[in-house]
Amino acid sequence: MVENPVEIFRDDHREVRDDLLELARAIEDKDLNRAGEILDRLNRLLGPHFRFEEEALYPAMRRFLGEYVDSLLNEHDGAINAARELVELIERGSIDDETARDAANRTRALLVHVSNCDGIAILAERLDKEEIEDLGKKFQRIREEGVTLLDWAETIRNKRGS
Ligand SMILES: [Fe+2]
Repeated sequence: MVENPVEIFRDDHREVRDDLLELARAIEDKDLNRAGEILDRLNRLLGPHFRFEEEALYPAMRRFLGEYVDSLLNEHDGAINAARELVELIERGSIDDETARDAANRTRALLVHVSNCDGIAILAERLDKEEIEDLGKKFQRIREEGVTLLDWAETIRNKRGS
């Protein structure tokens, strides 16, 4: 039996929330190894999560949210860019105080999207049972494929012309 996609989706948000806070702290501490580990975890978690949202959940939400869905997509663009910048920063191997502070603040700013996105759960509960089941199957398939955030952004997401 397919797990309820809304529950997985919310569990993901809790994990992302905690990871973002931990990542911001690691950057502030200039602990780039730790930051790299957390970013790697987020990259693996958020690939299937963003992909499920963009391919399945957000389209289904247009009937409730209309154009607001576009601003959620824009927030995804921002998160992907932030992840790319963080990878570059971590690869440099050292970081000064001001850059660390800025990067930590930008990391914490991503929490706004986690919060906005989690609000969708309350609306998703009003989808038909069959539709929720269908979303669950799609989420499961996407999770099994397990494409990371940055790989997905470069390949599958790009091809859709977004
Ligand atoms: Fe989300």
